[in-house]
Amino acid sequence: MTDLAPQTTPNDAVGLPARAAALDLLTAALGGRAGMDEGLSHPALAALDGRDRAFARALVMATLRYLGPIDSALQAKVKKAPPDKVVQILRLGVAQAFVLKTPAHAAVTTSVDLVAQDKGLQMFKGLVNAVLRGLVREPPELDDPELMAPSWLYMRWRAAFGAEAAQAVAAMIAQEPATDLSLKDPSQGPVLAGDLEAEMLPGGSLRTSRRGDIATWPGFAEGGWWVQDAAAAIPARLLGVQPGQSALDMCAAPGGKTLQLAAAGAKVVALDRSAVRLKRVAENLARVALTAEVVAADAATWPDRRSFDAVLLDAPCSATGTFRRHPDVLWAAKPSDVAGLAAVQSKLLDAAARRTKSGGRLVYCVCSLEPEEGEGQVAAFLARTPGMSLDPVAADEGGAPAASVRPEGTLRILPHHLAAGLDGFYVARFRKA
Ligand SMILES: C[S@@+](CC[C@H](N)C(=O)[O-])C[C@H]1O[C@@H](n2cnc3c(N)ncnc32)[C@H](O)[C@@H]1O
Repeated sequence: MTDLAPQTTPNDAVGLPARAAALDLLTAALGGRAGMDEGLSHPALAALDGRDRAFARALVMATLRYLGPIDSALQAKVKKAPPDKVVQILRLGVAQAFVLKTPAHAAVTTSVDLVAQDKGLQMFKGLVNAVLRGLVREPPELDDPELMAPSWLYMRWRAAFGAEAAQAVAAMIAQEPATDLSLKDPSQGPVLAGDLEAEMLPGGSLRTSRRGDIATWPGFAEGGWWVQDAAAAIPARLLGVQPGQSALDMCAAPGGKTLQLAAAGAKVVALDRSAVRLKRVAENLARVALTAEVVAADAATWPDRRSFDAVLLDAPCSATGTFRRHPDVLWAAKPSDVAGLAAVQSKLLDAAARRTKSGGRLVYCVCSLEPEEGEGQVAAFLARTPGMSLDPVAADEGGAPAASVRPEGTLRILPHHLAAGLDGFYVARFRKA
């Protein structure tokens, strides 16, 4: 089994408040799309000391990463589904004992204590005790990749990428990702790589397995880099913007790709529908001392009349490719989401085409593994937009893994395409006649 390398050594010295906070966080994470983010600012978590907070977070991430196999192990032991809160406590108990390797007695006792804290659940103490003790006697197998994702998603991946690739993608759900950084000045790469004990990836991103508060890492205070997954850094590079060119980032927040375009010297308009999320763009720009025109508007109906040398559409999507850092997306996504999002994406692609100057480039990307949001979008867009043609991406251009380049020159980046992983993305580049 993968070592999840939690930020602190979880043991039986970590008390009940950490488990109670993990229960709140897990419930929030599985309760909606923004669940994990909401949960991370949960007061129960903020009230913990550093070690307990790290344990609670590691426990929830372990539970979410192994949710499919954990549920399968529990279903074999529990005949009639108990109330939701008891299910969450059982899930956390299994993750403690078999993923984080917390001593079994601590995992069982604290799980029973969590149930005991709720007056209405007293009758489930025996069940939790018996189920967890039973699993301790006969440890479950949690490594089956076919159980790692919800079955409807796994079937889709198998249909889209083939059985072998679907297994390899699902196996990545268990892996805790390293942290990837994009550099403001690529020439600083070798120095920063040394300072941060980081590996330099093909496109110029740095990958570090450092943990802890990034604000204390070398180069942060100087605004030398920002956190951005290696796959997320590829689309903006493919625009190849030159200093002084105009660029539109149509769905910009929190701003990783805006920063890349600005760092390359483009005059950037960073557009996003969410004024709240745009504050992050402004803060990020200020921290790394770059500038962009930040505009809150719906990109489909933005009344501005300008067109741009380079347009980037990083469209809202099901985000199933981001499961390495957000395993909750897999369990929050619903089959019906994909069709709804695909309709929004095609409207935004039409708007992006209108914003692109003649001879200019448009890059469309989504952090989704679902073909309707990627390959399907491109085929339909080309069919209805005569002025646009595909501008094929060459192997290893912009740091794209060779395995991700499709015959027609779009990118289907799968999480196992780089050793130690990267986010799943679909990327297509177009040229306007
Ligand atoms: C995938 S995120 C963008 C991430 C960003 N490009 C980055 O690299 O940091 C999608 C963004 O699209 C924005 N969005 C959704 N619908 C939009 C619309 N109709 N017009 C503009 N922005 C929209 C959301 O607010 C969200 O910030």
